[in-house]
Amino acid sequence: MGTFYITTPIYYVNDEPHIGHAYTTIMADVLSRFHRLTGDDVLFLTGTDEHGQKVDEAAKKRNLSPQAHADEMVMRFQALWEILNISNDDFIRTTEARHKRVVSEILQRIYDAGEIYSDNYEGWYCVPDERFWTEKDLVDGNCPDCGRPTVKISEKNYFFRMSKYQDWLIEYIETHPNFIRPEKRRNEILGFLRQPLGDLCISRPRARLEWGIPLPFDEDYVCYVWFDALINYITAPGYIADDARFEHWWQASCHLIGKDILTTHCVYWPTMLKAIGVSLPKTIMGHGFWLVDETKMGKSLGNAIRPLDLADKYGVDAFRYFLVRDMTLGQDSDFSEEAFVQRYNTELANELGNLLNRSVVMAARYLDGVVPEVDGDHAALDALKAQTEETLNAVGKAIDAMNPNAVLDAVWRLVREANRFVEVQAPWHLAKDACKRAELEVTIYALLETMRQLAVLLFPVIPSKACEIWRQLGAKGSPEDVHLDDLKSWGGLDANLQVAPGDPVFPRIEEVNVAEEKAQEDLISFSEFQKLKLRVAKIDAAERVKGADRLLQLQISLGDEQRQIVAGIAEYYEPEALVGQQIVVVANLEPATIRGVESQGMLLAASDDNDLTLVTPDSEISDGAEVS
Ligand code: MSP
Repeated sequence: MGTFYITTPIYYVNDEPHIGHAYTTIMADVLSRFHRLTGDDVLFLTGTDEHGQKVDEAAKKRNLSPQAHADEMVMRFQALWEILNISNDDFIRTTEARHKRVVSEILQRIYDAGEIYSDNYEGWYCVPDERFWTEKDLVDGNCPDCGRPTVKISEKNYFFRMSKYQDWLIEYIETHPNFIRPEKRRNEILGFLRQPLGDLCISRPRARLEWGIPLPFDEDYVCYVWFDALINYITAPGYIADDARFEHWWQASCHLIGKDILTTHCVYWPTMLKAIGVSLPKTIMGHGFWLVDETKMGKSLGNAIRPLDLADKYGVDAFRYFLVRDMTLGQDSDFSEEAFVQRYNTELANELGNLLNRSVVMAARYLDGVVPEVDGDHAALDALKAQTEETLNAVGKAIDAMNPNAVLDAVWRLVREANRFVEVQAPWHLAKDACKRAELEVTIYALLETMRQLAVLLFPVIPSKACEIWRQLGAKGSPEDVHLDDLKSWGGLDANLQVAPGDPVFPRIEEVNVAEEKAQEDLISFSEFQKLKLRVAKIDAAERVKGADRLLQLQISLGDEQRQIVAGIAEYYEPEALVGQQIVVVANLEPATIRGVESQGMLLAASDDNDLTLVTPDSEISDGAEVS
């Protein structure tokens, strides 16, 4: 039995949680539960990052004190984690006394050790990212990370002597291949460390920002939010407060983070730890990003996916499953509801759900619902047992490699083998032949036992559905009580249990629903409508487009401007009859060349199967008038 300590980033409380936050937290939860499955002693920590300018500004916008704002926002995170079935052992808020005390103590210690000095500082600050940049870092004056504008700041500040640890850090990373994972992230950091490393500005003048932990050696300053936040990882397991407890967890620590906060975790944090004489975390795992239509997600972009909407619609477990399944560790993934539904129907509803359903229904129908007592050795079981063995080994390895996606790959090899097994064994034929009773029993037992194994293996990802599978099998206790090693002896499902077939665990999602919703999604918002510039125009001249029976070429006046447009109305209107007529045109349409003639707009017309008529103002109005 080992120890496993896993953390998520502590999330800023300036905004609501979105699918990206949910992803990291679900991954950490799944990894925690997988480690519990192997019998490890687990500490799973998540929490909130509550100080700093970003939170302060969000609070000001709402006319609340930062503390009142944080108190309210933290509940949204906690409520979401509850709904998503997150099994964290601790939740840390950086405004808690236990944390503030550790931060102050560390600041004082490293100040006393001469690791902090004051200096005048000039730099460009990105408020949303809470990061300083030098002029050469900027891209067109904007933050090189997020592209948003920066502000120039010049003031006295305190600095941590981070630069002196550069060579040590490079060597540490090079000699500890598992410290930063996956390899791509490790290379990114080594690349970053090829440039000279500066010292880290760790203070903010109170005159500019009140909302932070005061520096114990200068009350006119508060601590930089990242310096404060990173320390949460050692506060929670008991740094300073309880040495033995701290040591127990820290040597097995893993920080799961998104690739956006790699530098703070892989450069700032290790140097801070070195300065206070604490060993480095065992692993920092930087995962990729969920994108929507290949762009980053965010409230400002209007494409943030709300985790609750999906969990409400398809169920928490399906949502957890999809997130774990669809992102390969380290890479970005594009989120789409269609992909979600497709995976759900294929893997959860068909391959897993039907397997359970067939297994318990056949046990009920052919064996009165009683789990038969069988002798485990039977040639028909060879392939299934071999697959079980392979799956269990692969699962163990994938857990060690912290790759839940690979766990699911391995588990699904067993699901597919079990489905093949049903087809090959065809219990519905065996049931018709009294001489085949023993084989029928062996077959059904094997299916139920495989379902039991699957419930245990899948519990970390789909905890409530795994319990439902367990219940339908009539098994005692909970899938959570069984360890990976226990599964190695095949046949753990007790005979004589009574199966309890129930509703499908993952009912199929009708794809039409999605299509219908898509159709509804075709509704446009008012602001989208406003993008369309419709204006009244007068037709000054009209002629046929040569060689095109249906097209007219119109010269129109929009009051302040003359344009030419091409319209497919020649079958309905004589050119001469149109001159002097007012029409409505889309004035901000991209120009296009139609049959060699340039068209700078489009007129509006109504049509049905037989006829077409121009949309015109009800009475004369000035040319160029806006239509809205
Ligand atoms: N408060 C800091 C972290 C301090 S840790 C000592 C912070 N907070 S955050 O609220 O911005 O959360 C960032 C984290 O949210 C990312 O590292 C990642 O874990 C998660 N994600 C945010 N957007 C994401 C995606 N689009 N996709 C996947 N994860 C994402 O940074």
